[in-house]
Amino acid sequence: MQFSLFAQRFQQETGTVQLMDDLGKARWAKPPVYMLGGGNPAHIPEVETTFKAALSAILENEQDFGQMIGEYDSPQGNTLFCRSLAAMLNAEFGWPVSADNIAITNGSQSSFGLLFNALAGYFDDGYFKKILLPITPEYVGYADVGLADQDIFEGRRPAIERIGERAFKYRVDFERLVINPHRHGAVCVSRPTNPTGNVISDEELDELRNRCRDAGVPLIIDSAYGLPFPGIVFTDAKPRWDEGIILCLSLSKLGLPGLRTGIVVASSDVTRLIRNANAINSLAPGRVGPTLATALLKRGDLMRLCKEAILPHYQSKVNHALSMVNWFMRDLPVRVHCAEGAIFLWLWFERLPITSGELYQRLVHKGVYILPGHHFFPGLNDDWRHRHECIRVNYAAADDIVETGLQLIADTVREAYSQR
Ligand SMILES: Cc1ncc(COP(=O)(O)O)c(C=O)c1O
Repeated sequence: MQFSLFAQRFQQETGTVQLMDDLGKARWAKPPVYMLGGGNPAHIPEVETTFKAALSAILENEQDFGQMIGEYDSPQGNTLFCRSLAAMLNAEFGWPVSADNIAITNGSQSSFGLLFNALAGYFDDGYFKKILLPITPEYVGYADVGLADQDIFEGRRPAIERIGERAFKYRVDFERLVINPHRHGAVCVSRPTNPTGNVISDEELDELRNRCRDAGVPLIIDSAYGLPFPGIVFTDAKPRWDEGIILCLSLSKLGLPGLRTGIVVASSDVTRLIRNANAINSLAPGRVGPTLATALLKRGDLMRLCKEAILPHYQSKVNHALSMVNWFMRDLPVRVHCAEGAIFLWLWFERLPITSGELYQRLVHKGVYILPGHHFFPGLNDDWRHRHECIRVNYAAADDIVETGLQLIADTVREAYSQR
């Protein structure tokens, strides 16, 4: 088959493709398989029971059921959901938002596809602008969404703070951060960050916001794991929104990735753009996620689940995973990034004699799937060795899978160091 030049971007094995492909392969691979690679959230019984009850009530109501599966939604997204969410954000955080400030997409991955291409690329004043990622490592899924004929990301190295013998933390390197409205169409940060579990502090976020405001550039906050929901944040960070912030939320990490629902909270010129793009590209976003989420909001279940079930679940999972790393890797030169949120551990093996890509290959042979670090530096075009010394481990799987997976990682890394 001969494809157009446009198709070239879909003919490459990128990090995102590897990530999603591994998820599929691991499901059908011969056991034993230790899937610590993808971004699947945990199956939390209490959460799934609540989803089931809310869905059953919808199924039993002829009108709700009929509308959910039998009618296109409005292109900006389900009006009832947008209104209910706006009311909740108003009541909980005092944000001056209405339904007009909310738009729905088919998963936040598609929100980023649209937003990044809308805010980066060629502009009619002749500038080519990029999305500035003020702190990499950053989410691998951003890397391939650009439609322009050149890279639309500018990534920055973080400042690294070593903490004790075994931990470290990335911080925004404000000394080197200059936001230039002729070069940068937006600044974007995931909070918590996938892959590192970093939660940039309120002070860092406020400083970023101030600099964006001074430069007249929007700040995109990717809150797929964060605030206000699903709230997988172990620090006391607070959510932020104003008209210069584009807050991207998702139902996925609540436990609903199969429903493909992304939510954008932004000024109405942004939500209108999403409405039009939805109509053009897919007529309307899916309706099941917003219908279920409206029911959860109405019953007061959404925020309750986050606080009472989701956060405690991941808090206990992360503690378990950290204790396993400390045990299995006690003799290895490993540092773990401060686990402040999301569902990953980010392990840094200093002066690892093989690349993290090679480590990934060796682990796949043992049935262990992780993500090698080098994928997570979109827009950072230098040969920083650090990016080949880190791996991302998803700790949301069952405890025995995480335990054996981490033990096999420790063994494989130990072999690599000993072959030096
Ligand atoms: C940081 C981050 N942002 C966005 C997404 C996209 O999520 P979804 O398209 O399922 O909403 C993910 C998925 O893993 C993610 O980790």
